[in-house]
Amino acid sequence: MSIARNILLGAIFATFAFAMAHASAATTGKADDKSIARGRYIAQIAGCNDCHTAGYAPSGGKVPEKDWLQGDILGWKGDWGTTYAVNLRMYMQGMNEDQWVKTARAIKTRPPMPWFALHDMHEQDLRAFYRFVRYLGPAGGPAPAYVPPGQTPNGPYAQFPAAPK
Ligand code: HEC
Repeated sequence: MSIARNILLGAIFATFAFAMAHASAATTGKADDKSIARGRYIAQIAGCNDCHTAGYAPSGGKVPEKDWLQGDILGWKGDWGTTYAVNLRMYMQGMNEDQWVKTARAIKTRPPMPWFALHDMHEQDLRAFYRFVRYLGPAGGPAPAYVPPGQTPNGPYAQFPAAPK
């Protein structure tokens, strides 16, 4: 085999390997470093960590990344009842990237989750956030169940005042 032919074969294999890597990235939600970095940035600056990562806000963001976005047992109590930031590490396991984009566009939750921010988020940022969460992988358990209005939750909670009239 000539050297030129070897080089050509090498190039073909490299192209094939690259195409395969990209094909599997698209189907499994695994991602390139750039979208993972972007997703990490969104978790940090769009407030997701503030509520969905236990201890993140009280510690000034000093929670190791491996513990991020596992939800919180801190309840948010108001006239809507008591809500808990869900475990996004598990939540994202249950859907693929396209389903997440669709869900994020339609989502409407109880307070204080800023669901409207997900409606406004650019699609590429929604995708980057998804890829980052899938890159972190599944971890943690479910957040406590929603508690209806008028009932006192068992665990810790932050009380919102009644909305001004
Ligand atoms: C102020 C606190 C807060 C912030 C900030 C916040 N969340 Fe939430 N999130 C919550 C709470 C509380 C719930 C549960 C709402 C409920 O039970 O209705 C929730 C629920 C969710 C859900 C589940 C919705 C469903 O299907 O029921 C998703 C997804 C989610 N948040 C994503 C995000 C992302 C992404 C960010 C950052 C852009 C974010 N959240 C920022 C508090 C917050």
